[in-house]
Amino acid sequence: MKGAPISDQTAIVTGAASGIGKAIAEKLCALGYRLVLGDKSESVRDVVECLNSKEGQATAVIGDVADPHHAHSLIAEAQRYGGACALVNNAGYLVQSPFTSLTISEWDRMIAVHLRGTFLCCAAAIPLMLARGGGTIVNMASQLGQKGGIELAHYSAAKAGIIGLTKSLALELSSKNIRVNAVAPGPINTPLTLEASKAWRDRKLDELPLGIFGDPSDVAETVAFLLSPAARLYVGQTLGPNSGDVML
Ligand SMILES: NC(=O)c1ccc[n+]([C@@H]2O[C@H](COP(=O)([O-])OP(=O)(O)OC[C@H]3O[C@@H](n4cnc5c(N)ncnc54)[C@H](O)[C@@H]3O)[C@@H](O)[C@H]2O)c1
Repeated sequence: MKGAPISDQTAIVTGAASGIGKAIAEKLCALGYRLVLGDKSESVRDVVECLNSKEGQATAVIGDVADPHHAHSLIAEAQRYGGACALVNNAGYLVQSPFTSLTISEWDRMIAVHLRGTFLCCAAAIPLMLARGGGTIVNMASQLGQKGGIELAHYSAAKAGIIGLTKSLALELSSKNIRVNAVAPGPINTPLTLEASKAWRDRKLDELPLGIFGDPSDVAETVAFLLSPAARLYVGQTLGPNSGDVML
């Protein structure tokens, strides 16, 4: 919220048990945010335990972001801390599937976790932000939502949808002191890419202008910036920590 010290602010981060979400939680905790960390995996409790052992203030909520009850549980926890000022919609997964064998259930699940999940958490958090006079939202897209991906029609469509949702919310809510932006990372060293074949990783490294994959902390820095007052002029933007893979 405008002017409020970070120690008075609560951030909700989804998909915080692993990879980028965990790095975002660590970064925001170090900055002094109180945290509500969501994930479908019980291991988000380990992240909370670790942050709280270092004087952090974090709590875990287990659930599926595609389920509206999860969004409401996240908000209820944030209200116990005094209401959410920041929301990071990060939960996601990636499964490749050639388009001709992509099933309706694979398509629906991909859209449900990424796009419906982002919608549900925004829909639950925004009334609270309005009541508190403002807030900030960062939605995790992907550069594949900008450039497309082979055997990733469902993932790319979901991430492109998140970019469109971000711009529309930014248009609608900026005048109400709610800033909404997206981050579209390139390949980042997390379980999501470490599970890909060595051949894919080697080819991808060759293609990248910087010749390196990012680390989760690189994305966390971008998110922390977008949440901060230093980013007050950023609305509806999609920032790309992507090693130069996409240049807009
Ligand atoms: N790693 C990359 O190269 C990369 C690049 C671009 C975008 N992204 C995006 O970044 C985000 C984080 O990915 P990551 O690389 O850290 O992956 P990750 O697998 O390390 O972490 C994803 C987390 O989201 C959780 N999650 C997945 N589905 C969920 C659901 N339905 N409900 C609640 N939690 C759920 C997982 O349990 C996991 O803890 C994703 O949205 C992903 O699409 C990743």
